[in-house]
Amino acid sequence: MEIQTIGVVGAGQMGNGIAHVMALAGYDVLMSDISQEALDKAVATVDKNLERQVSRDRISQAEKDAAMARIRTTMTLTDLGPTDLIIEAATERETVKQAIFEDLQPHLKPHTILTSNTSSISITRLASRTDRPEKFMGFHFMNPVPVMQLVELIRGIATDEATYKACLAVVERIGKTAASAEDFPAFIVNRILMPMINEAVYTLYEGVGNVRSIDQSMKLGANHPMGPLELADFIGLDTCLAIMNVLHDGLADTKYRPCPLLTKYVEAGWLGRKTKRGFYDYR
Ligand code: CAA
Repeated sequence: MEIQTIGVVGAGQMGNGIAHVMALAGYDVLMSDISQEALDKAVATVDKNLERQVSRDRISQAEKDAAMARIRTTMTLTDLGPTDLIIEAATERETVKQAIFEDLQPHLKPHTILTSNTSSISITRLASRTDRPEKFMGFHFMNPVPVMQLVELIRGIATDEATYKACLAVVERIGKTAASAEDFPAFIVNRILMPMINEAVYTLYEGVGNVRSIDQSMKLGANHPMGPLELADFIGLDTCLAIMNVLHDGLADTKYRPCPLLTKYVEAGWLGRKTKRGFYDYR
């Protein structure tokens, strides 16, 4: 089945990036959120990021205009029912995601594929609570979505081959590369990336280095585009902590113990760039 229309649930950082790349590739996008303000902000962000691509001659003005015209928004989640593929990119809380899929279910077309952009919640568990576990999979983008080349495609235990192939075709059409991952805690990227970030926080906590020296070491010594603490601020310290907890609980190994300093920052509300304070001060 060829996907033509895509529903994006959630107009946050990931949702607007997903709408951007899908519309640019020619898909009709309907993006939903519970806040009109979030929807307006998301559309403005897509506009700004597309404009940046125009100014760098990556795309033409006509391509930008066509992409913008393909994005519609709604505050009524069930309006997404008639789309061919739904990508849920709401808050990273299992109960929230479950409620979204439950609300959508009676309005879906029989062939609609459900996916989640979750960075660590079990796809099998989310799928099992829907009427279509065989048409459910993980569709995990990296941040910033318009820039990062990878999409992790995660099969739940029941995901069928047709669903995987349909999602793979979408990844190829948007010009990205898919990595196929099995459904185990935090999949591939975050299974490897988050323990590194957590270790960087331990390195700070134990006084081995300071924020600058730790980040500089990994940028200049390991050729990472961002240092691990800068990257943690970029991702959100709450997200980093949540993923470490998923790894710690799901794999029951103390090597995934979240650093107490990471927990303390999250408790302080110092979540990184989005709250203007994390390991760095953005105020
Ligand atoms: N939207 C669109 N384009 C953007 C953008 C955005 N938000 N941010 C940057 N860009 C574009 C720029 O326009 C520029 O494009 P061109 O090459 O066409 O000129 C390009 O990206 C590079 O940007 P800059 O020159 O402004 O800045 P930079 O060279 O410092 O790169 C960065 C910025 C791409 C974010 C880079 O620092 C980087 O790759 N950082 C690491 C990001 C990363 O690791 N992401 C994964 C996080 S983990 C994750 O997402 C999974 C999870 O579940 C938590």
